[in-house]
Parts: sequence; C-alpha cells; structure tokens
Amino acid sequence: MASAGLVKLKTSSSQWIGQQPFNHRPGPSLLSAPRRVALPIRAGAYTDELVQTAKSIASPGCGILAIDESNATCGKRLASIGLDNTESNRQAYRQLLLTTPGLGEYISGAILFEETLYQSTTDGKKFVDCLREEKIVPGIKVDKGLVPLPGSNNESWCQGLDGLASRSAEYYKQGARFAKWRTVVSIPCGPSSLAVKEAAWGLARYAAISQDNGLVPIVEPEILLDGDHSIERTLEVAEYVWSEVFYYLTQNNVVFEGILLKPSMVTPGAEHKEKASPETIAEYTLKMLKRRVPPAVPGIMFLSGGQSEVEATLNLNAMNQSPNPWHVSFSYARALQNSVLKTWKGRPENVEAAQKALLVRARANSVAQLGKYTGEDESDEAKKGMFVKGYTY
Ligand code: 13P
Repeated sequence: MASAGLVKLKTSSSQWIGQQPFNHRPGPSLLSAPRRVALPIRAGAYTDELVQTAKSIASPGCGILAIDESNATCGKRLASIGLDNTESNRQAYRQLLLTTPGLGEYISGAILFEETLYQSTTDGKKFVDCLREEKIVPGIKVDKGLVPLPGSNNESWCQGLDGLASRSAEYYKQGARFAKWRTVVSIPCGPSSLAVKEAAWGLARYAAISQDNGLVPIVEPEILLDGDHSIERTLEVAEYVWSEVFYYLTQNNVVFEGILLKPSMVTPGAEHKEKASPETIAEYTLKMLKRRVPPAVPGIMFLSGGQSEVEATLNLNAMNQSPNPWHVSFSYARALQNSVLKTWKGRPENVEAAQKALLVRARANSVAQLGKYTGEDESDEAKKGMFVKGYTY
C-alpha cells in the first residue's frame, strides 16, 4: 500500500514493483522502457441510466432514507419498543415508513432490505410501487454482512461477492435502481493495512458488478465512531481509507459519475475527552473529501453512525454553508428513525403521528442539505445520542 510520501511504480508489464519516495527519479531503464497503457473497458450497457439515477438521487434538498436493516438488526429496533421480531411486525414498521404521505418531497431514495424489496403493504400494494408514486428511487442492500478477517487485528471483512451479479440482475427486475454495500474500518483496531485493502477491494468489486447490472453503487466504508482518538486521527485514517477505495475503484473501471458515496463524518472518537462543534466537523470532513473525492462523483450521502438526530442534521447543515463540488446530503438510518419508533410504539393509533415524526426529520435534513437549518424547536428525544459501543448492524 502507498503510505504518506510514497508512490507506487509500475513496470511496462503493469506489475507493481515497489514503493519509492515522491522525489525519487526513476533510473534510465524505467524511463526508456516502452509505455504500455492498459485500455479500460468503460461504457457498459447501463452507463447513461446509472448517471441519470445517481443525479436524480442527488437532487437539491433531497437525501436517502436508509431502512435496510437485516432481519436481526430490525429486530433490535423493534425490541427497543417492546415488539417481537416477526415478519408481520417488520412489515408494519416498513409500511409506516414507506407510505408516509409527502415523503418524496425530501427523500429521493430508500435503501431496502431484500425482504422489503419483495414485500407488499397489508393491502397488497408492493412497497416498490409505494416508493415510485412518491418519485423515490428504490435501493437494495446487497452485502451479506461482516465476519472476522483472519490474520488481522480483530477486524472484519464484508461478504457478498459470490453470486452478486445474478442477485443484482434480479433486484433490478424487481425495481431496484441503486445498491448499498457497507463495510467497516475500526480505528482502535489499527486499522491494519490488510483490513483497509480488503475493505477497499470488496467495495470496488461490488461497485463494478452493480454498475454492470444497472444499479448505482453506494460505496460505504464506515469508519466506526468507537474509540478515544482525536479528530486529527480520524482525518488521517479517513484519507487513507478513501485513497485506497478510489485506487481500487479506478482499477475496476468504475464510472465515477454513476456512484454515490456514504462516508462517516470526520469526528473525534465517541470516547474522546472533547466533543467537536458542527463547524469543526464540517471543516475536517470537507477537507478530507476535497483531498480524496473527484468532482465527477455526484453525491456524498452521509451515514449518521450513532449521532443524535439533531447532531446529524446540524453537522450536515454546517457542511452546506458554502458550495461544494458534489451534492452533500444524508443517507441516515438511526438519525431518521429514532423519534419515529419512539412515537409509534407499535400501536396502530400512533401510525399517523409517527409518520409526521418522520416528515419532521426528513424536512429538517432537507433544509440542512440546503444549508438553512437553524436547530430550533427540536424535541429532547431528537437530541439524544444513539452511539452504542461495538454496535453491529
Ligand atoms: P446509520 O449510521 O445512519 O444508522 O446508517 C448506516 C447505514 O449504513 C444504514 O444503511
């Protein structure tokens, strides 16, 4: 891996031959070697559609509603309000969210779990059709979750590449137009170069396969909030991770205009002695993104990662105080769902109030995407942090 101050050198036969300091001048044998540039295969059958899909998700004032919790994780959400993790309870919860009238004004895409992509409302209307009516693009989580990475520092890797092409083709037929693959990087565990390389390579292979099957890939290397490290350390790790991700995206001929990113914001570790203000988080996060993300990428859709609903909105707002090269928005799960769950409590008579609670959060983040959120009139519930040490999705 290239680390700070080092560059990789290639031979004419495209083999990496090692690392040299930036000021190293290649000797005559390398300079005189004939240059052979591998020709990338770019335009796929779906390229124009991918670019259009990514652009429509990255529309002004819009972001993504992430409700792609696996059945096990959805069970945790339901347990928090005393409900059993049954298919009908998951359906009731997803129905509440996806049939919220007017949601499409603020939400341009919704990430679903496979069960939801194929599910219908209790009246028999496909969830995908509920979304289409609100002009919300349906998306699908395609990774198969995290498992321990042997040979690493207690880190993990993300499974799901086997059979991904055929699954993606099926998801497209079912109406999905974008995909999500979430892998994680842990700062307290190192991160080791092995774990970062594996995360980046997996994301790049997934992105190429998704694009080949008409799905815009959301590229999500989540840098976990866990740890007592400073914001400077997060910045260093985030720059390293994104440089690896873009290196392998390029190697896999991924079309940058047809992807979306889902980064963590650059913050101090959750157990660090000092908290950072939204302005500082925005400064560090934008610095990292400007150093690593080409303007060809249409949208940066942040995850909330355990921040409170209000924190996530304030931080997004701070990032939109001056124009950015990309659409800077949200793809929150916890920071859009917390007050909804607490309002609903699993009772049919609370569905309307819970849908209103979803609209409150969606609208607040929409306003933050436009840089005009003030943080006034927020409830105490919305200010409660949701960080859980060692949280697994
Ligand atoms: P939150 O961190 O916003 O809960 O969501 C992360 C995620 O990847 C859900 O799709």
